[in-house]
Amino acid sequence: MSTASLNDSRILIVDDQTDNLRVLATVLELKGYRNLRCLEDSRCVVPVFKEYQPDLVMLDLHMPHLDGVAVMDQLRELISKDDYLPILVLTGDGTSAARERALSHGAHDFISKPLNRTEVQLRVKNLLQTRHLHLQLKAHNASLEESNRRLRETQSQLVQSEKMASLGQLVAGIAHEINNPLAFVINGLFLVQEGLDRIAKEPEESLSSAVRGRVGNMRANLRDACYGIERVKDLVSKLRTFSRLDEGKFKSVDIHESIESVLLILRHKLEDRVQIEREFNGPATLACHPGELNQVLMNVIANAIDSIEGPGNVTISTAWQDGHFVIKVRDTGRGIPEEIRPKVFEPFFTTKPVGSGTGLGLAISYGIMQAHQGSIDFSSEPGKGTEFVLTIPANLEA
Ligand SMILES: Nc1ncnc2c1ncn2[C@@H]1O[C@H](COP(=O)(O)OP(=O)(O)OP(=O)(O)O)[C@@H](O)[C@H]1O
Ligand SMILES: [Mg+2]
Repeated sequence: MSTASLNDSRILIVDDQTDNLRVLATVLELKGYRNLRCLEDSRCVVPVFKEYQPDLVMLDLHMPHLDGVAVMDQLRELISKDDYLPILVLTGDGTSAARERALSHGAHDFISKPLNRTEVQLRVKNLLQTRHLHLQLKAHNASLEESNRRLRETQSQLVQSEKMASLGQLVAGIAHEINNPLAFVINGLFLVQEGLDRIAKEPEESLSSAVRGRVGNMRANLRDACYGIERVKDLVSKLRTFSRLDEGKFKSVDIHESIESVLLILRHKLEDRVQIEREFNGPATLACHPGELNQVLMNVIANAIDSIEGPGNVTISTAWQDGHFVIKVRDTGRGIPEEIRPKVFEPFFTTKPVGSGTGLGLAISYGIMQAHQGSIDFSSEPGKGTEFVLTIPANLEA
């Protein structure tokens, strides 16, 4: 601790004796202390303390109206528990009982009257040094905590992207394996359907009623199978997107047009129930993988619409913020409960009924935003709604 900065410390001296105040001020000024505040009326300590924010309080123990112990009791209320604010008590009563009483009320050190110049200077210096060390320690602790927090954040991001990368490989393999048999199942179903259509063209009479019934059942089963296989096809295509995120070049597109095209596709979901509000303030063009970004928009907006039961609003806003293009999708839906928040980006996590959600929407979106060196985040209040925030850096090579 340099003497210069120690001399800038603020010292509040409280003593009802003007002579004492003068002596103390002179003794401290001689040592170079520049910020002294002298107070005769101890009843004014609280407002002066709040305004002056001293680094050290020197306090006479015996004063009319409000003595040193009472002042310390008031100060304790103002000093936070993790702060170290030294109080140096000045007393003519050097008995150990008096000292103990002052100590138990928050004093850190004593000086006996009549005052001794060297003693005053030494004790003030010691207490101020301790105070400054404490402040430095506090600042270091705060910055350590901040570094620790950032480290944890980076670690969880790393774990997340590692997880996504290995999942990507796994999923690519599975999608490939499913895709080949899927092709001949679809082909087979198509041929069966065609054959059935041809049979139905034969005169009805040539079929017995039992056979007609069977053909009817076969048609119904076939319709179900086609519906099911369409879903598998959709799933495989989603899995392939999931595992193939960083291909191709960035292209400049009109992002507001992209949003409108996504809304057009999702129109059937809106019915008259959900109103869309637009707050487009960002620039129109953005370099990105347009097809993939459309998917992110589609997933996030579809989720927003799905979260609303009955009437509600989805607000889509765009803005330019610190070199990033920011798209926010806010809904007035049911919100995301605290306990599932860490899971929503995990592949296959869904709260939707079996058959209606694959749980891949946000996992895919997360990967796509990573491939854009951007981010996807959300904040949510259960019962009130959720806001998803997509951030894309502006300087991606088009
Ligand atoms: N805006 C939102 N409001 C409330 N819950 C949400 C919202 N967005 C996502 N969720 C929750 O996160 C889960 C995962 O979302 P995700 O989009 O990954 O899958 P999904 O919508 O269930 O299925 P799909 O693969 O069809 O998109 C959802 O099931 C839902 O519980
Ligand atoms: Mg979804």
